Amino acid sequence: MKRALVPGTFDPITEGHLDIVRRASQIFDEVIISIAESPDKGGHARLFTLEERVRLAKESTADLPSVRVESFGDLLVNFARRMDAKVIVKGLRAITDFEYEFQMTAMNYEIDREIETVFIMSPPKYMYLSSSIVREIARLNGPFKEFVSAPVFHALCGKYGLNEADVPAAAQSSAQRADV
Ligand code: COA
Repeated sequence: MKRALVPGTFDPITEGHLDIVRRASQIFDEVIISIAESPDKGGHARLFTLEERVRLAKESTADLPSVRVESFGDLLVNFARRMDAKVIVKGLRAITDFEYEFQMTAMNYEIDREIETVFIMSPPKYMYLSSSIVREIARLNGPFKEFVSAPVFHALCGKYGLNEADVPAAAQSSAQRADV
């Protein structure tokens, strides 16, 4: 069985992540969304707890039978060994991701040469999407519904005290323009 990990912090999982997970699930027999505990990032606390991030990832992938969700608090390559996974899948968005991904991939390769990292390119409409951008738009009551699954939309509305019906729709967002 070919099993792959899609790792990240997923605070929260976005449509950009889900695009990578769906495409990975077409290639591998089993995909494990691997959620790093990482309690904070750059000195900022997470918006969602680990339990919430796991629940939202599970609910967002309930329609994908070959996808499961696990969390980990150790080195990614050690977690991969524990899960008996030989492949790490990462999404590549803009060119700015490259240097950072290159460094992580190189270090992971040094630690365990049996584990390969492969990259799937994000489509243009998700190229500039990130969890913090989604959080920021939600916090300021902008249009974010199209960038997240229904459970994440619901959870973000709850966190920021938004009335779901009042969240503005993107009139013609860059995402829609990219679809044309
Ligand atoms: N669509 C949308 N957003 C995406 C995305 C995609 N396809 N891919 C990445 N992102 C965004 C994330 O939303 C996140 O945005 P934010 O900073 O605004 O929250 C950002 O890109 C970074 O992603 P993140 O999930 O934090 O992943 P990462 O690339 O920084 O790596 C781990 C996180 C967990 C994989 C990494 O830290 C790790 O392996 N940790 C375990 C410890 C370890 O082994 N360390 C040694 C590594 S060499």
